[in-house]
Amino acid sequence: MKKLFAVLMLAVMPALSFAAEQGVQLDKVDIDVSDKAAMQDGARTFANYCMGCHSAKFQRYERVADDLGIPHDVMLDNLVLTGAKIGDHMNIGMTPEDAKAWFGAAPPDLTLVARVRGTDWLYSYLRSFYEDPSRPWGVNNKVFPNVGMPNVLAPLQGRQVIGCKQVQIVEDGKKQYDPLTGTPLTHEACDQLTVLPKTGALTEEQFDEKIKNLVTFLAYSANPVKLEHQRIGTYVLLYLAFFFVFAYLLKREYWKDVH
Ligand code: HEC
Repeated sequence: MKKLFAVLMLAVMPALSFAAEQGVQLDKVDIDVSDKAAMQDGARTFANYCMGCHSAKFQRYERVADDLGIPHDVMLDNLVLTGAKIGDHMNIGMTPEDAKAWFGAAPPDLTLVARVRGTDWLYSYLRSFYEDPSRPWGVNNKVFPNVGMPNVLAPLQGRQVIGCKQVQIVEDGKKQYDPLTGTPLTHEACDQLTVLPKTGALTEEQFDEKIKNLVTFLAYSANPVKLEHQRIGTYVLLYLAFFFVFAYLLKREYWKDVH
């Protein structure tokens, strides 16, 4: 029993240490990598707001266009901003040396980032920039403290600040209300992010949706064959179910005289 316990502890330890390292609570996001409209929107955001600094060099424009149902000419006119050809990899002009000099850290390639960081992390990270005049770009990030990346989505999101505010108490995932009056029960919490009203082009809901779409695109990019795997997986299971019937009949036939 003791041994079993030790083995179990070893098994869960990496998960525990990873959770401890994270520190902040990540927001959960439900990603659907078969939602082409979401991925098209995400690809547009990626090309317009991220590819100034980040490449997706293990991916070709043509493959993205075909997988996401974007006609090649539309892709070239709207999403290929570097003068590249449709068959080219999604590279950028900036060199890692220049990038390091400008930002202190080279912006990593993002083709596989959804696999490395996870979609919840990305969704939380991209919504967690806040104003911090002590940093070179005037912003910091709650999920990635002292990050070298500027908040390129600020025109959409608006100005986000950090501070103390009243937040609703949540217990076991349920928002708490006063049983008599029905008003929300709150307590003061610090390190809370707030977007200053009317400072961005999008509402908070619209911005969250934009980021969700962007993360959906990154999740697709990190695993473009996932859709295909699911389709093939279904056939494999159907085949196994079909094969089982015959295997069972054959077994019955073989064992008929043995008993
Ligand atoms: C002006 C340049 C610039 C733009 C534009 C930019 N980034 Fe970054 N990004 C950086 C830099 C620099 C880093 C490295 C930060 C560090 O390590 O401190 C970074 C880091 C990241 C990371 C963390 C990667 C990791 O695993 O460490 C992610 C994710 C990311 N960027 C996503 C995006 C997305 C999505 C966009 C588009 C909305 C974007 N970035 C636009 C400069 C940029």
